[in-house]
Amino acid sequence: MNYQKITQEVRIIAKEVALFIKSQQQLIKSNDIESKGNHDFVTYVDKTAEQKIIEGLEKIIPNSGFIAEEGTSTKVGTTYNWIIDPLDGTTNFIHGISPFAISIALQENDKTVLGVIHEISLDECFYAWEDGKAYLNDKEIAVSKQNNLSKSLIATGFPYYDYSKTNDFLTTLEYFMRETSGVRRLGSAATDLAYVAAGRFESFFEYSLRPWDVAAGAFIVEKAGGIVCDFSGGNNYIFGKEIIASCKPLSNQIFNVVNKNLANKN
Ligand code: IPD
Ligand code: CA
Ligand code: CA
Repeated sequence: MNYQKITQEVRIIAKEVALFIKSQQQLIKSNDIESKGNHDFVTYVDKTAEQKIIEGLEKIIPNSGFIAEEGTSTKVGTTYNWIIDPLDGTTNFIHGISPFAISIALQENDKTVLGVIHEISLDECFYAWEDGKAYLNDKEIAVSKQNNLSKSLIATGFPYYDYSKTNDFLTTLEYFMRETSGVRRLGSAATDLAYVAAGRFESFFEYSLRPWDVAAGAFIVEKAGGIVCDFSGGNNYIFGKEIIASCKPLSNQIFNVVNKNLANKN
């Protein structure tokens, strides 16, 4: 497989669907917003975008399978599976704020081989492929070289359905509020990861995320020279619902804080 070529084809699909999503932002009405749960919304835009992405990807690798948020296809591929969030940051999209993004990863035998994140409001496409490097539009990107925690900017997401660890989360948040330059909650995990890859954030951590939120972003961060792990330091961060992605110099320090407060203690 020529992953570089496939990545370019995926970028074209993401760009086309990004234009569709953007074109709908002014048209969306409150009747179009369905609630999948408390703080979890979906619109016809998410669903149509997913259909369009899947139609495009099926042509690139026939017989591939899909793990896609809105369940447009549940086909399982024997070798190749795409992991898709057609619109990451739906709440931002509905409220007319940035960022919101398309996230697409390809796995070959359960190993990620390419990732594309198209952040729609700034029209920024972050991508990487196996044996290649990480890019933003056509420029190579790398994680931050910052080694001083007090000069770092950290991103996270607030718990929105599993409140069982809220106190431990708030302890972690307070630590980073005091010890870093600042903490951000953008509302799009895919964009958070893309920004770590591009060196804009030194680190991102969140729990309760799903594979489509993180698969592409985790891969792009690694290709940009960053360190990605779960809250115990393992590599179960795509399906394991917890992720820390950091620039190399600060990765141990940030991991130790998140691990101490938020890792499951059995
Ligand atoms: C959400 C965003 C958000 C994160 C949530 C995700 P959605 O995705 O990535 O930043 O905090 O956990 O579910 O629902 O907008 O695709
Ligand atoms: Ca998402
Ligand atoms: Ca989504």
